[in-house]
Amino acid sequence: MNLTDRIVVVTGGAGGIGAALSRRFAAEGAAAVVVADLDADAARAVAEGIGPVAHAHAVDVTDEEQVRALVADTEQRYGRIDLFCANAGVTTGGGVEVDDTGWDQAWRVNVLAHVYSARAVLPGMLARGGGHLLHTCSAAGVLTAVGDAAYTATKHASVGFAEWLAITYRDRGIRVSALCPQGVDTPMLADGLADGHLGARVVAASGAVLTPDQVAEAAIAGLAEERFLILPHPEVADYARRRAEDPDGWQAGMRKLVRRLTA
Ligand SMILES: NC(=O)c1ccc[n+]([C@@H]2O[C@H](COP(=O)([O-])OP(=O)(O)OC[C@H]3O[C@@H](n4cnc5c(N)ncnc54)[C@H](O)[C@@H]3O)[C@@H](O)[C@H]2O)c1
Repeated sequence: MNLTDRIVVVTGGAGGIGAALSRRFAAEGAAAVVVADLDADAARAVAEGIGPVAHAHAVDVTDEEQVRALVADTEQRYGRIDLFCANAGVTTGGGVEVDDTGWDQAWRVNVLAHVYSARAVLPGMLARGGGHLLHTCSAAGVLTAVGDAAYTATKHASVGFAEWLAITYRDRGIRVSALCPQGVDTPMLADGLADGHLGARVVAASGAVLTPDQVAEAAIAGLAEERFLILPHPEVADYARRRAEDPDGWQAGMRKLVRRLTA
């Protein structure tokens, strides 16, 4: 997919990676960019910064009615959605001790919201014979997020769901991409680093911390090639290969890294 004249929706568009994706899609010539986020004021600020091609839409992606309304409103305004980016995501910052409310929120934002948007957007895309779903998962979805059990479990689920969509709908014209960055300089990681959170320190020690614009650049390249797995950090492919070939050896390496960082 190239972005010229495309109608695009980006959830979590008010911050970090979502804002960078929104700006970049507009710069690539999208006809409309819907900056959708729980934080309506921040979404409006991003849309205003982009210009008339963009508008903000307040949405809680964990509420299926609101996701349906986001899709219906966009289709009504522009006649279609070419690219839907399910990008909003949350961390919990903890392990098994995180209470069910925390696990439930991670599940709802990181996984169920992807189901809601696919459910809402697929009928129109299938009727038109094409469309692209870009799901922001994470390197945590193909590796592990040290220090965050629910993030790891739900991001693995999000990669699994994206893969299921890709296999099920590719022959009907639907392209699916799973964007799986490692460390990105957004509040999600920066706040963790500022707090000295182990997970954030492991991420920072495992490779470059990219800017959101670099992630958007990788997303554009991956969309152009209609690639399923988009890895802004190429080293993640090597880590994932090592993990698949030798799970015990890979886990030993991770434990060694954690020991080094906590010594
Ligand atoms: N920052 C990283 O290092 C990193 C690495 C890999 C993957 N990711 C993933 O990238 C995506 C974007 O994260 P980011 O780093 O830009 O984080 P961020 O916290 O800067 O932005 C996340 C955005 O999602 C919005 N959001 C949260 N819950 C929502 C909800 N229920 N409904 C609508 N919007 C909601 C927030 O308001 C915020 O604007 C997430 O899925 C995250 O898991 C981030």
